[in-house]
This record gives sequence, C-alpha cells and structure tokens, in this order.
Amino acid sequence: MYYSEELIQRIREQNDIVDIIRPYVQLKRTGSNYVGLCPFHNEKSPSFSVSPQKQMYFCFGCHAGGNVFTFLQKYDNISFPEAVAVLAEKGGVELPQEDAGPEEKARRSRNARLYDINYAAGKYYYHLLRSEAGKLGQDYLEKRGVSPEVSQRFGLGYAGQKSGALVAYLRKEGFDDELIRDSGLGKFSEKYGMYDSFINRVIFPIMNGSGKIIAFGGRVLGDAKPKYLNSPETGIFEKRKNLYAFHMARSSRAKQFILCEGYMDVIAMHQAGFTQAMASLGTSFTPEQAMMLKRLDKDVYLAYDSDGAGTAAALRAISILRETGISAKVINMQPYKDPDEFIRGEGREEFEKRIEEAENAFMYEIRQLRKDYSLDDPDQKTKFFNATARKLLVFEEEMERENYLEAVAGQYSIPVDALRKRMIDEAKKGGFVRERTAVTESPAPSPGRRSEDHSKYAQRLLLTWLSEEQERYARIRDYICPGDFTDPLYEKVAEKMFSELEKGSFNPASALDMFEDPEEQRIASEVFHTRLDVPVEDGRKEEAFRDIVIRIKQEATDHAVMSGGAEALDKLVKDKKLLEQLRSMERL
Ligand code: UTP
Ligand code: MN
Repeated sequence: MYYSEELIQRIREQNDIVDIIRPYVQLKRTGSNYVGLCPFHNEKSPSFSVSPQKQMYFCFGCHAGGNVFTFLQKYDNISFPEAVAVLAEKGGVELPQEDAGPEEKARRSRNARLYDINYAAGKYYYHLLRSEAGKLGQDYLEKRGVSPEVSQRFGLGYAGQKSGALVAYLRKEGFDDELIRDSGLGKFSEKYGMYDSFINRVIFPIMNGSGKIIAFGGRVLGDAKPKYLNSPETGIFEKRKNLYAFHMARSSRAKQFILCEGYMDVIAMHQAGFTQAMASLGTSFTPEQAMMLKRLDKDVYLAYDSDGAGTAAALRAISILRETGISAKVINMQPYKDPDEFIRGEGREEFEKRIEEAENAFMYEIRQLRKDYSLDDPDQKTKFFNATARKLLVFEEEMERENYLEAVAGQYSIPVDALRKRMIDEAKKGGFVRERTAVTESPAPSPGRRSEDHSKYAQRLLLTWLSEEQERYARIRDYICPGDFTDPLYEKVAEKMFSELEKGSFNPASALDMFEDPEEQRIASEVFHTRLDVPVEDGRKEEAFRDIVIRIKQEATDHAVMSGGAEALDKLVKDKKLLEQLRSMERL
C-alpha cells in the first residue's frame, strides 16, 4: 500500500502528538513541552519529552523518539501502514481505497472480518462463563485459584458442552460458514455439518499488540487430550509473531520481562502482581518474538518449567535471546514444576526473591552442560573444560568474553590461564579468530547509549537549534550546506530542513516520514533533541552558536581533504574561505 506524502502529512497534522500520547503516558506541562515517564524503558524520574511545537517525542534516557506514527508503531507494535490507518480514522482522513489492488483489498477486508468474528466469539465465551451455563468453567477456574478480577482482566471465557452453540450464535451475528471455518472457530464434517471447535474448555483469548483478539487457546476441564487446543494460524494470527499477554506486559513498570511457558503461568503471575509476565503460544520461543521484546529494551528472565523439557526450551530461548542482543537470566523454579505451582505454593514474596536471585543465562548454560560430565573422571573433566572453552566463543566482545571466562573459571575451579589457552586453541580450530592484533578497539556503538563523536554532536546541535529557532537559518545559509553533514542520515535531514526553511518554515515531524526504518527514525528524532552539554549563559549563546557552525565547517573541510577528488577539492577551496570569514566574525 502506497500513500502519498501529502496524505501522510495531512494525517499527521490532524493528530496532535500530545493528544495521541496522553492516553498512554501521564504528561505534565513544563514550559513549551510536556514531560512524563518514558513508556519504552523503566525509569523513576521523567525524561520522556513531548513537543507540541516539533510534533515529536523524545526520551533523553533511552533515546527513543519519533512522531505520531512512530509512537503508535512502537507502542502498539504495529506496522507503519497500520499506524497510518489508525491515525487516519482518528483524524477523520479518508484513505484512498482505489490504490489497493483487488487482492490487497480482499485480504484487508477478510482480515477485518476475522477480527470481527474473533471479537464476537470472545464476547460469547466471556458471557457464557459468567452465566448459569458456565458453572463448570467457573468451578474450574476457582479450583485453580484464578480470581474473578484477573479472569475478567484476561477476558477468560468458557466454551460449553453443547456443540454448535457458538456456530449458531456466529451465524445469527451475520458471519458466514466460510469465515467461521477460516477463523478456526468452527469445523465442518459430512456427518455433523458445522460444529464448534472448542467444547467444554476454559477459553483464553489471545490478543495482539493493540489488544485485539486474534485467536484463542482452550483448556479442557479434565484430563482429556489435547490439554490445550489453540486456534489455527489465520490472516491475523501467526504464532511466531505473538506472545500471550504481550499487550499487558509491555506497559509493566518492572525492570525486566518474564517469559513463561504456559497460559496459566502467565495468569498466576499477573494475579500475584508480576504483570511483566508473558508466554509464547504453544510453540517454542521464536526470533520474531525476541525482536518484539528487543524493541522494548529490557532484560528477559525465563520462568520455564523445571523439568527436562523446560530446561531444553530454556536453553533454546537463551540462544535466541543472545542472538537478538537481549540479556537473559533464568529463574529457578525448584522444587516446583512451573511458576503457577510455585506461586500457589510459596507466594508472591518468595517469587520476588527468585527473581532477584535469577541466574545469568550463560552461567545457567554452563551449569546444564556440566551435568553431562562426571567431574571425578579426569578425562571427562578435560572434556567439560574444552566444551566450556568452546562455549565461551559465543561472545564476540573481548571484554565480555574475558569476564565470563573468569566467572566460569572461578565457579568450576579451573585455572584461568589454562582455560584461556584452551579457548584460544578452540578458536583457531574453529577459524573464529585470526591472530589478534594488539589494538584494543573502541567499543562498537551500542544502540541507546552510543559513544559520541564530537563532530556529529555539533551537527545535531545545529539542527536542533535551527528547528527551535528557525529564524537563525538566515544567518547560516551562506556558510553551511547539507553536504557539510558527514552522516548521510543527517545530510538527508538537513536537505529537507534547509529546502523547507528556504520556503518559510520547517516542521521537524515531517522529516521523520522520510525514513521507514524505526532505527533511522529514532536517530532522526535525536537530531532534533540535542542539548548543549554545558549550559551557556544567555550572553554567550551567540558565541556558542558561532562555534558550532565553525566546528561543523572545519570538520567538513577535514572530511573533504581525506576524501580527495576534483569536486571535493572545489568545495574545499570555497569552504576554507568561508571558514576564514566565519572565524573573523564575532557573531553570525
Ligand atoms: P503445560 O502443559 O506446561 O501447560 O504446557 P500448563 O500451563 O502448565 O498447563 P496446566 O497448568 O496444566 O493448565 C505449556 C503450554 O504449552 C501449550 C500451551 O500453550 C500451554 O500453556 N500446550 C500444552 C499446547 O498448546 N497444547 C497442549 O496440549 C499442551
Ligand atoms: Mn501448569
């Protein structure tokens, strides 16, 4: 689906950023901005700022930032077109239908119908549970200790013993048999005709990032098989890309997320106050799910079953989390089988302790590995050390690897040097490292806290300054051009900004629409939210402004010298002149 720039702009202008964010974040006015607690990371004092003037938000803590579209995308974990659709509706802007091909249109309306039918079924199950006919379901939930309040919060329901009841209800609501089958809510057989898929089960609605029902899980009341039945994948439900209770856990203020294996675990945890808990959906944890969590930038603690299957699942999840760049820990559930049983047995406070004592994921992996060897046998012991040495190679950062090496050596009484040597041998064998040069490189910039290079800082400062005091543009336009911005993304932003300022005024939020990638949007937001690292008195402000411009010009010429080329030379000569002029001026 392609929307024109004008349309995107119109939708953006119809939705004030403060109105959009306010339902999610409690905002307080300070001067011309609003501030609140950042919904994208855990914090105690507000560093999340919303600017009505720029129509952007930015968090000075975690550097999340963007415009109305970015906010909804990130908060609700939806795509750009979905955010556009939501805001178009809110702003009363009609989206062109003719742009969509017939296939796209059919798919869209089919998905819309799937949402509708799931919603209708959810309502049906929900009311049935709370009616006379839902007694068995109620008794079951009571037996499992689920409070009515939590049952309501999760929208739990009940599928009765009478097959066909839901199908009849859905038909009455105007859904056709084809849709009932496609949604997985009903099935067809020659013998019985249409019948309900879920019978005599407690129903767990599964919701997507915006809290819409997209599927169901159902648990039998007794011991029948299968214990849990889940909706099939449909146009709106992909198991790999959803997590149970994600839309609730996401807004939890806890330091970490807790990942469990089952629906009932999640519910027990939420009931005990651990609203940061969620679970994958009847499959093992996937890289797609890891990405959903990665965006929220918290550590993930695993609360998996304590049996062999749970351990195997935890080991798989750990490696996926590591690949995604998420720090993980493992919560010890012993002597209980799962979080649900643990909480029922020991209660909230004990679980809280277990969270605090959670084991580092790598140390957990080594401890599991250790179980395969009997360390009394010297031969086995060597094998264990070798396997450990090999395992250490998952860390690409030398410092990190070294820290783990020491930790493991300490814990299993292995001489550090011997383990290190073993590790290097393994690395050579596996072709992981060529002989290292002795240079210790500066650490790779990590998202969020990036190591700051000074010229880029000056460039951002200028862009922020110009966006806030646009009249300053007239004073620099003869000296600075977009090409002076060394980062291609900054250059693109500057190009847009300067060309609009030439025409009169510039709206920072509009610059973000040039970028599709959320990370690029984040960097672009940062460009408009850079503060002077030392406050300047009003009197020295103009001096600071001049210095920034000089710094940028200087860097641009240095850059040109390095890149060479005829064109570059031309620019260089001009820039040198400009630089001289700038230096001779007391203020711009
Ligand atoms: P468990 O059997 O560990 O679930 O399966 P549980 O939550 O402890 O079950 P209770 O406490 O007996 O009710 C973990 C998860 O695996 C999926 C479900 O998502 C379940 O929550 N599962 C399990 C299925 O999809 N089908 C099954 O038959 C069993
Ligand atoms: Mn259980």
